[in-house]
Amino acid sequence: MKAHYTAAKRASTIKYAIRDVVKYAKDLEEKGNKICYLNIGDPVKFDFDTPKHLKSALWEAVKKGENWYGPSEGLLKLRKAVCRKEKRINGIDISPEDVVVTSGVSEGILFTMAALIEGGDEVLVPGPTYPPYTSYSKFFGGTPISYRTIEEEGWRPDIADIKSKISAKTKCIVLISPNNPCGAVYDSRTIAEISELANQNDLIILSDEIYDRIVYEERFSSAARVAKNSSVIGLNGFSKVYLATGWRVGYLYFHDPDGRLDVIKESVKKQARIRLCANTPIQKAAIAALDGPQDHIKQMVEKLRKRRDFAWKRLNQIEGITCSKPKGAFYLFPRVHGIGQRWKTDREFVLEVLRKTGVLFVHGSGFCETYGAGHFRSVFLPPVETLTHAFNLLEQFMESKGS
Ligand SMILES: Cc1ncc(COP(=O)(O)O)c(C=O)c1O
Repeated sequence: MKAHYTAAKRASTIKYAIRDVVKYAKDLEEKGNKICYLNIGDPVKFDFDTPKHLKSALWEAVKKGENWYGPSEGLLKLRKAVCRKEKRINGIDISPEDVVVTSGVSEGILFTMAALIEGGDEVLVPGPTYPPYTSYSKFFGGTPISYRTIEEEGWRPDIADIKSKISAKTKCIVLISPNNPCGAVYDSRTIAEISELANQNDLIILSDEIYDRIVYEERFSSAARVAKNSSVIGLNGFSKVYLATGWRVGYLYFHDPDGRLDVIKESVKKQARIRLCANTPIQKAAIAALDGPQDHIKQMVEKLRKRRDFAWKRLNQIEGITCSKPKGAFYLFPRVHGIGQRWKTDREFVLEVLRKTGVLFVHGSGFCETYGAGHFRSVFLPPVETLTHAFNLLEQFMESKGS
């Protein structure tokens, strides 16, 4: 037999722990085991539903025959609605030419990284981070450099650490607030300090704000609002706040106070053109999302707050587990005591919990080898009964290990 065809080396840089662990759960499910999936941040898989007016707008668009290819940068009406939303909610002044509609924030990350990063560039990413920022940095020949976020201070970015890691090769700095996987919400002072560093060192800020309206105590501060004088590329979408994960629609915008992002903007728009457009009828629904009733957001946040309070308290009652309280998004990032002794790695811990209890978490090192190791990520999306069941099983597991 002839040898296998080889894939480009860059393909080996792609890792996505959140889904990479699923195959182990599927194997167990095939053997008849029941699995409780606490690995994926998809509210629609639990008791949250896409608001009715979004569904109607989608159906109306399809019925009216609006099923054509749209403009590559997105429907003008949607880009205008994005500008109004960003002004109203986040206090940002942008115009439709600054906005590109994408197939989810995921595509926005891809476009931005492809436009910015090439061989030798360094990208400062929060440690821990949402994995595509590290994977795409490597994919395009760059090096992700994790900056420390401080667990004892609710996973706040460590400004001194960021400063020490800026080099002549640093291209941009990624902020994720509210944060996946830790639930941190960065305060405006922290963002202002990062902005100052960015300005001093000629760095672009990439600000992932997909959870902007899912906050429990702190107010959300948008990077472009606080970092007025910095070049900011903002990323946002409809998956989480508008409960439309499967619809795959998002947007990115350029906050460009001194017109220095022109070439990057054109590079992103070129990429948008080569993939033709984002889904047209879904964009119609996205307009309805931004311009229509927003009541579901408050209801969702209140429902999630109860689940957050329960899950955080319950996890901290388990011997061998400590967890800081998330302030936004819908993830917990607990520390497991005994990684390195009872379990060689956090991945080994997560896979053993899965085998013994049927509960699937994601290992912390999947979000950062340095600052995420020794932890795991759990969503707190399901109803309290499901969380009770899962955490009871986890407690029994920990007790069986003599914690
Ligand atoms: C921080 C962050 N950015 C982006 C995404 C992907 O968003 P989308 O569904 O819009 O592609 C996620 C999904 O979990 C996320 O947590």
